[in-house]
Amino acid sequence: MTTAPIEQRRILATVIPGPRSVLLHKRKMSAVSAGIGTGLPIYVERAGGGILVDVDGNHLIDFGSGIAVTTVGNSAPRVVAAVQSQVEDFTHTCFMVTPYEEYVEVAERLNSLTPGDGEKRSALFNSGAEAVENAIKVARTFTGRTAVVAFDHAYHGRTNLTMALTAKNMPYKRGFGPFAGEIYRVPMAYPYRWPTGPDRCADEAFDEFVSLVHAQVGEQNTAAVIIEPIQGEGGFIVPPAGYLKRIADWCTQNGILFIADEIQTGFCRTGDWFACEHEDVVPDLITTAKGIAGGLPLAAVTGRADVMDSVHSGGLGGTYGGNPVACAAAVGAIETMQAEDLCGRAREIEALFMPRLRELSEKFEVIGDIRGRGAMLAIELVSGGRDKTPNATLTSAVNAYCHSHGLVTLTAGTFGNVMRFLPPLSAGDDLLREGLDILEQAFAAKA
Ligand SMILES: Cc1ncc(COP(=O)(O)O)c(C=O)c1O
Repeated sequence: MTTAPIEQRRILATVIPGPRSVLLHKRKMSAVSAGIGTGLPIYVERAGGGILVDVDGNHLIDFGSGIAVTTVGNSAPRVVAAVQSQVEDFTHTCFMVTPYEEYVEVAERLNSLTPGDGEKRSALFNSGAEAVENAIKVARTFTGRTAVVAFDHAYHGRTNLTMALTAKNMPYKRGFGPFAGEIYRVPMAYPYRWPTGPDRCADEAFDEFVSLVHAQVGEQNTAAVIIEPIQGEGGFIVPPAGYLKRIADWCTQNGILFIADEIQTGFCRTGDWFACEHEDVVPDLITTAKGIAGGLPLAAVTGRADVMDSVHSGGLGGTYGGNPVACAAAVGAIETMQAEDLCGRAREIEALFMPRLRELSEKFEVIGDIRGRGAMLAIELVSGGRDKTPNATLTSAVNAYCHSHGLVTLTAGTFGNVMRFLPPLSAGDDLLREGLDILEQAFAAKA
């Protein structure tokens, strides 16, 4: 069966959410755990390009990509073809029992696409959190040390170890402890909120990092430092130029592994294959997921061969890790990124968004900061002018306005006051412009 292409324009057929979505949401509330929240209760029937079509026939503009996953677009043709063919061949054997080529191919592609020319190895998993957990396992085995250093505003997942690495209490941690031990937190180089100003942020944040690890953790106890090159859930915080490199070099000098968590930033999202490239950083280990497989669940740890091979046979793995269908999808997604130069497309999206966001910030003084790279951009909302008090109330109001007008936006940030923009790289310029118009109307109505 072939389905008609999705019309790439916003259509509001009903109020948002429409009656069918409302009914489905009632069913959801009585069938699904209350612990699973809902950003926007429209129920999706089809999606593609830059549009989500709901069960009431509304076409919504997608500025979220299912939280940075559908980088190649929903149901991208190469992904669909690869998945269909793989499903017909076989769906599972367990790679640890009887292996298959698709897994090996994804590992080879990761080894060559990730930063660094040295010999590398990869291991595949199901989710970002699982990849982070395994990167820590590998780092501890290789170094024979236990401590791991993470940053303020970090987000690394919702499993026990990754909750310990994640900074934000609500909703990720409250009531879920005790958390895994041997995790230490240091301040993040956050230029907009650095107490002495953005110009001093890189030097002072680096000095504070070194002094805290030395005094409170001990270099010789530290297995790894884990950082998102641009923090995701924490509010798209971009550290100052040179900061990541200084941390990575210092790690090398001290026998500590530098882990880049590129789960949200990876796979063309920031205009490079990986955000570390922009800073000329070669991590010892890199975690990936989200954009890797066009929407199918897949995650990976990739890194130096000597590090990855330090683990005993059977020490890594899992029943479904590197499922053949997800691997086929990843090959289709990577080929799409290459064939369509999606890194270039992410840079075009930055060039389209940034002037509009700057204009908006000149008009509305509640926009305190604009930041991000490629198609990973954000604005931080504050009380206004010089008062940088986080404005979560306005953020929610602007977000709700966008939703009710057919634009799917996401919020983020430790203080809930960041609107983040993560459109699929398959969205056309006209659609993106229309989305930005709605955002502007939202500020005009609510700010
Ligand atoms: C940087 C980062 N690390 C880890 C994770 C966890 O990934 P998952 O939700 O697939 O477990 C996320 C998810 O948002 C993330 O953004």
